[in-house]
Amino acid sequence: SEGQATVTVNAARVTADISPLIYGQFIEHLGRAIYGGIYDENSPLSDKNGFRKDVLEKVQALHTPLMRYPGGTVTKIYHWKDGIGPKAERPVRRNLIWGGEDNNHVGTDEFMTWSNQLNAAPFLTVNMSTGTAEEASDWVEYCNASGDTYYAALRRKNGHAAPYNVKYWGLGNEEAAKEDAGVLQDPADYVKKAWYYAKLMKLQDPGIELIMVGDDEHWNKTILEGLHPICNYISLHLYAGSQPGKTNSLFSSVAKMEEKVISTAAQIKALTPATLDTFSKWYRFPGRKGPVKIALDEWGIWESGGKGAYGLEQTYNWNHALGVASFLNMFQRHADVIGMATWAQTVNVLAPLMTDEKTVVCQTIYYPMALYRQLCGSRSVLSTVNCGVLPDTEQLPQLDVASSIDDAGKVLTIALVNRSATENIDVQLKVEGAKTRGQWTVHELNAPSMDAVNTLQEPGKNVVEHRTRTLPADTRRYAMPAHSIAILQVGLL
Ligand code: AHR
Repeated sequence: SEGQATVTVNAARVTADISPLIYGQFIEHLGRAIYGGIYDENSPLSDKNGFRKDVLEKVQALHTPLMRYPGGTVTKIYHWKDGIGPKAERPVRRNLIWGGEDNNHVGTDEFMTWSNQLNAAPFLTVNMSTGTAEEASDWVEYCNASGDTYYAALRRKNGHAAPYNVKYWGLGNEEAAKEDAGVLQDPADYVKKAWYYAKLMKLQDPGIELIMVGDDEHWNKTILEGLHPICNYISLHLYAGSQPGKTNSLFSSVAKMEEKVISTAAQIKALTPATLDTFSKWYRFPGRKGPVKIALDEWGIWESGGKGAYGLEQTYNWNHALGVASFLNMFQRHADVIGMATWAQTVNVLAPLMTDEKTVVCQTIYYPMALYRQLCGSRSVLSTVNCGVLPDTEQLPQLDVASSIDDAGKVLTIALVNRSATENIDVQLKVEGAKTRGQWTVHELNAPSMDAVNTLQEPGKNVVEHRTRTLPADTRRYAMPAHSIAILQVGLL
């Protein structure tokens, strides 16, 4: 059957710059994410550093600008000093959080080499549970210092002359975890602790930016009020999921995540301006410049019934890919407040890429990630949609939309997700605020059905079709197939 929709875009109404950092990724010492995922020193597929070349190539094609490491929950027991120096001398530790042993053959320097090959800025998360502020400060020195002090010299001794200049530092991870995670922390305790951490880390390098842990409204209020002079980002972790057999419940879950972003944005806006001058006088480093932003430093899709460690090796179908595109649209719509986002996680753990000893497979969700990064613009513009609603949801629109323009204002990009499993949509396109120029280009992603999957069992088979076509200059209609993603582009005069 066929539905109708009208998409109205105002190309002159720029709502915010879109941070390229929303296309970040995350990799943790967890299951087969690192060992057996990005790294396998015994594999003929690996380079001289032990990194799987086939995996690296697929991650490179995502053009991710930001890579978070080493956790995740593992930061609660991770001590970075275990992971430097000659590999044979590094201690083997039990991974008390996720199980198994970690020989620490991937540590800070290896991670830097890898993210450097990706052209991704590193984002390190420090241990605020069993670590110390001093240990975190030493890490900043090891990574960023250029003088003759102990840790800078140690980095050089380990073969890395130039500082890494790591800009993004997370102060802990899910520190407000609930009882079942075995960690209970009062937000006021986090605030006190974070000041020590921030101070010792910023005295090493005043240029670093800090990501503070967020959680529910109560927690966020205390964190924001207590830390905002030094808080560049407040972190939220957004995992969507669905009810078995109910395709549209995934989109309801994504919509709930959007509500969380909106309510946190309101909390940020309600902050009274910081007294940053007084602050700088006392602290010998500058306070935050610009507004606090949200860091979605873990986002993803987490269903029950996965395989591997903690069921985290998940098979993502085409419905999940539409969920990813809906998330990415949401990030663009809220570009005024979302400063970064890192997908959890890149390989084997809730991941777009799955490996075995022989091969790497791109799951369905890989394709929208790559295409959005490649095509979407750097400035968000206002768009609205008028269309039918998705059955079994709270009035969610069938068609999800986000629009953007490039830096020069010469290209308009409209990202559309038709989330209906059954209805094609006749989309009327209305562009206001600017004149379009020349023909339109449409990139269409689709698969035979919502439950289509790419798996390691059939590594040669790709269910995802990427079609590119053009529409004439005077086009004001686009016939959008059911369950598809389309990125439309047209020149602007
Ligand atoms: O990404 C998997 C885990 O999910 C992370 O370690 C943790 O931070 C979150 O709960």
